[in-house]
Formats: sequence, C-alpha cells, structure tokens
Amino acid sequence: MKARKFPLEPVEKGSRKALRELQLKRLKWSLKHAYENVPAYRRKFDAAGVKPKDLKTLADLSRFPFTTKSDLRDNYPFGMFAVPMDRIVRIHASSGTTGKPTVVGYTQKDIDTWTHVMARSIRAAGARPGDKVHVAYGYGLFTGGLGAHYGAEKLGLAVIPLSGGMTERQVQLIGDFKPEIIMVTPSYMLAIADEMEKQGLDPKKSSLRLGIFGAEPWTNEMRAQIEARTSLDAIDIYGLSEVIGPGVAQECIETKDGLTIWEDHFYPEIVDPQTGAPLPEGEKGELVFTSLTKEAMPVIRYRTRDLTRLLPPTARSMRRMEKITGRSDDMLIIRGVNVFPTQIEELILKHKELSPHYVMELSKDGPLDHLTVMVELAPGAADAQSAASLEHEIKAYVGVTAEVKVVPISSIERSIGKAKRVIDKRPK
Ligand code: DLL
Repeated sequence: MKARKFPLEPVEKGSRKALRELQLKRLKWSLKHAYENVPAYRRKFDAAGVKPKDLKTLADLSRFPFTTKSDLRDNYPFGMFAVPMDRIVRIHASSGTTGKPTVVGYTQKDIDTWTHVMARSIRAAGARPGDKVHVAYGYGLFTGGLGAHYGAEKLGLAVIPLSGGMTERQVQLIGDFKPEIIMVTPSYMLAIADEMEKQGLDPKKSSLRLGIFGAEPWTNEMRAQIEARTSLDAIDIYGLSEVIGPGVAQECIETKDGLTIWEDHFYPEIVDPQTGAPLPEGEKGELVFTSLTKEAMPVIRYRTRDLTRLLPPTARSMRRMEKITGRSDDMLIIRGVNVFPTQIEELILKHKELSPHYVMELSKDGPLDHLTVMVELAPGAADAQSAASLEHEIKAYVGVTAEVKVVPISSIERSIGKAKRVIDKRPK
C-alpha cells in the first residue's frame, strides 16, 4: 500500500537510555555471530585475548580488535560472510582505487534492514507522499542506485531509475516527468545543472525541490552554491558498502546540521587515526562502525578512514556526525603539510567568479612536491585575478604553495558518479 503519511518510528524519538539498552543487546548478538561464524573474526578475537562474553557494557567494545579494508581483501571474495551462500540474496562490491574490489553480501533480512534505513533517511531528508524520485546514483555493483531505489519504493514514492550518465537525457526527463526529489552525487548534480543551462533551462525553475547528495565529500560552501543555483534543498546522506551502503547516516531537513546516525543498527566510535585509541565524544578523528543487526557480513569496529566528530542529538534522539571533511586516504602530504581537497574546495567557492569544477594535480619539481589546482571559471564570469588571490589564500589558510590555473568552462572532466579530485603524477 502506498504510504500516505510518513510518521517517525518510536526509536527515532525514544530515550537515549532505551537506545543504549537496545544497542548493548544487539552488540552482544553481533559479536557472538561474527565470532562463531567467521573464522577471520575468531582468529582476531583469539589473538587479542577477547571473547564475545567479555562485552558487558558498550564501552567494552574498545577491547575488541579493529577490522580494516585489508581484512576484507585478505578474505576476498566471500571469506567474511557469516552465513552460507544459500542465505545470500545480493552481492555488491566497491571498486576502490587499487587492487581487488571490496565485496559485501546481504541476506533477505539485511536487504530489509537496508531498505528500512534508506526509507527512514529519505523521509528525514524531507520526502512527502506523492513525490517522484529521480535516482541518478549508479545502478550495479555500487550500492548507491539500488539502495536509493529500494528505500524510496518502500516509502511509497514513485521511483524513476535513471542511473548515472547520459546527462542530456537526465535533463530531458527531469523536464518531462517533473520529479520533486533527485538522488545523486553532488558533483554529478553540478553537471546536470550545467546541462540544464546549456539547454537554455533555468535550474532554479525546475520541478526539483530536494536533493539527497552523498557518496563523496562535499563542503557546506558547495551546499550553498548548489542551493543558490538551483531550486533545491541540498541534504547530505552517508554510507559505505562495508557497513550496508547508503543510509548509515542522514541529515534531517528541519535542522541541516550534520548527519543523524541510525544508531539502532550501526554503532559509531571515533578513534585516533594514528594510534587507534578511542577519542572522547566531540573530538575529531576516524569514524569506526560496528554493525548491530547485519547477518550476512557483520563488521566489528570497521575503520572507515572517514574523518569526522560525533555530535549530540538534535532532530532525532540519535547522535549526529559532522559533515565529513575527507578520508584519511585522500589526505595529501605536500611538502610535509596535510591537505584535504575539501579545504581547497572551500576556498575556491569563496570566489563568485570560479566554479566548483576543480582538480588538484600533484607532480615532482626536482625533489619537491608541486601542487597545481585547476579550476574552471563560472559561466559568464571574467577572470578577475582569481589565480593570484587563490594562490595567496591557499598559502595563508592551508599552508602550502600551489600554482592555480583558471581554465575555461568544460575543461575539467565531469564525473557521472564520484568526482576524482586528485591526480597524483608523483613517481611511486
Ligand atoms: O558511496 C554509498 C553511498 C551511496 C553513500 C550513495 C551515499 C549515497 P562506497 O562506494 O562503499 O559507498 O563508498 C563509501 O564514500 O567511506 C566515504 O568516504 C564516502 N562517502 C559516502 N557518503 C559520503 C558523504 C557509498 N555524504 C565512501 N560525505 C565512504 C562524504 C561520503 N563522503
């Protein structure tokens, strides 16, 4: 039956105490499930001298070993599965930049959980009964398309499953079908907005009211730029394949203040990225997740490499995470200084005459690293000494010397999914 109302679930507004009790109960189950059914977890727990029954409180979780991407690679493709293949109903994989893909599996119950948290996310983002949802996340091994699809359908919305690519057609169908919601990476949204303008359409006048953007880091400056240029409220959605896919955390439209973590299914911790030591609430570090309900591929203290901090609840009773500023993998060390692409993005977007289409190229200048930032002019803008002032700001605020090249519109390759912000040409 089509949902006519979208009431919140009791757990979204329940007490913190009840939530913690639920988490503890589920955490005990998840540790036991992983230990008993995945040899890799059993070996790791045994080596660390811990057993699932050693967990008496939520804080005891810090005694258990971490899981990393290399654990998944070492057990490629299906070695981390905790159920036999006859209970697996779906397999996804994320390509990664090097080596083998990361493979994840789902039982029917896992698909139901994922669908449920995605429906909850889309509702929190501000969907209303009767909305049409244009899904431009890629369908396939990537979890974006199918995750969005199942969640929106469960909510009773009309799903338009475009997938990524064929941008002209995306724009044509937005014009014809008049969807209210679009789900897409923020960088591809910009390419769609550019295409609208190319076709003589005003992105501010489209039917779209709400954009649910994620799968890559994007700054609040980028949000402001998208909202100024289009008719959309731009809302953040977060997730990763290893934990379930999109729908691990979602920004709520009423507050737009970071992403509420669906803590009844995914237990978050923040640790020091270097030492792995748990950090106090509110401090910035690496986000770590333990799945509480997942059957096919439980993850115990999975190191996401994403950097953020935990914040107290606002729109829901679950904790929030701050917008992700980058992955520890994306951190560039340029002449000894740590640099994230989002820091450069923030500075670029302070310039009205520049567009958010940018790429950072790293090369060697003798023994030294050389950073070139290539950024496009905004449509109709004239280059008013932007390169020199951006170079100055990068030096002043980020602390590195960069060469800025302002390039004409369309010189930088458009992504149809996750944007590639860094080209590293330094010899390995
Ligand atoms: O990107 C799942 C997803 C699909 C999320 C659609 C949101 C929307 P993976 O391909 O496994 O899964 O990549 C996960 O992408 O660890 C982050 O580094 C990054 N990421 C995802 N969402 C955000 C976000 C999907 N909202 C990796 N902000 C994660 C910043 C994000 N980074």
